[in-house]
Amino acid sequence: MTTRNRIKTLTQFVVERQAEYSQAKGALTRLLNDIATAAKIVNREVNAAGLADILGFEGSDNIQGEAQKKLDVFANERFIEALKGGGECCAIASEENEKIISFQNEFSDLGKYVVAIDPLDGSSNIEANVSIGTVFSIYRRKSDVGPGKLEDMLQPGVNLVAAGYVIYGSSTMLVYTTGRGVNGFTLDPSVGIFCLSHPEMKFPETSNIYSINEGNYIYFPEGVKKYIKYCQEDDAKTLRPYTSRYIGSMVADFHRNLIKGGIFIYPGTTKQPKGKLRLLYECCPVAYIAEQAGGKASDGFNRIMEIQPKTLHQRAPLFIGQKSMVEKAEEFMVKYSPEMNSAKK
Ligand code: AHG
Ligand code: MN
Ligand code: MN
Repeated sequence: MTTRNRIKTLTQFVVERQAEYSQAKGALTRLLNDIATAAKIVNREVNAAGLADILGFEGSDNIQGEAQKKLDVFANERFIEALKGGGECCAIASEENEKIISFQNEFSDLGKYVVAIDPLDGSSNIEANVSIGTVFSIYRRKSDVGPGKLEDMLQPGVNLVAAGYVIYGSSTMLVYTTGRGVNGFTLDPSVGIFCLSHPEMKFPETSNIYSINEGNYIYFPEGVKKYIKYCQEDDAKTLRPYTSRYIGSMVADFHRNLIKGGIFIYPGTTKQPKGKLRLLYECCPVAYIAEQAGGKASDGFNRIMEIQPKTLHQRAPLFIGQKSMVEKAEEFMVKYSPEMNSAKK
């Protein structure tokens, strides 16, 4: 007779972890639960996206004459509702909202966290049935009372209390860290419960995947161009030439590389010197997860987690993944594109 591992749900796991801290009152547990609940609702819509009228452009009417909503707007509303209703946070920064959404909860001792979120990442892939995601950062507020303020949100990644992502793929997973390793939970759709399926996730030692939108090649800095050529050279010892994989959803590209080993790059370009991805709710959360999984995340020169955000929707170049691969790409940046180092300006 074979013995099976006992199923551990996300809720059980988070509660057990938090119980290890004697001063913990369960607020973070409840906050992560709120995020998981919203993720399940978004997952339901994502799964039905091909059937529902929801795929239309925001502002257009569906067959009943009702205004249609794009899935990223729908996801934004669900996460905001869940986070506001849950009472554990006092401000939300979202890719979909220009300013922070700040609020005061009726219970004064609640709401000590702020959340930055990209509710639907890779939204251009929805119509094509390609994996998309949600990415979130959780910080402890800096101010004492009242609705959360912009300063509560503008914190570097090193201050993160927790971060994670949900990937809506061939199966739906929630992956998160609170600074003690990375754990992944797969949604059992028949019962609507996230179950621990990927404990203590680590980047594999050997990797041979590079992910970058090479269509932008002519706009890339010299360091990136040279690194791409390095990836394409023949050298059996270092598993080169590497394999190129690019989904166009950061969460999905990052997740694949975490499982299979690899590097993901969205560099600064001559058109967009700071790249495309947003520091607070795209780069920082995956950077925290990468580091906790034994990997590395940088802007080509500096640790992503140490960049002090100045504005809510600030962008940063991102070089992330298996440690030695990121370090190799950094070598090329330092040698061939030192002018791109924003810390030196
Ligand atoms: P979002 O859908 O939240 O706007 O994010 C899209 C991002 C990211 O997921 C992805 O890695 C990147 O855009 C792809 O950009 P390119 O199409 O320029 O490669
Ligand atoms: Mn995104
Ligand atoms: Mn988005």
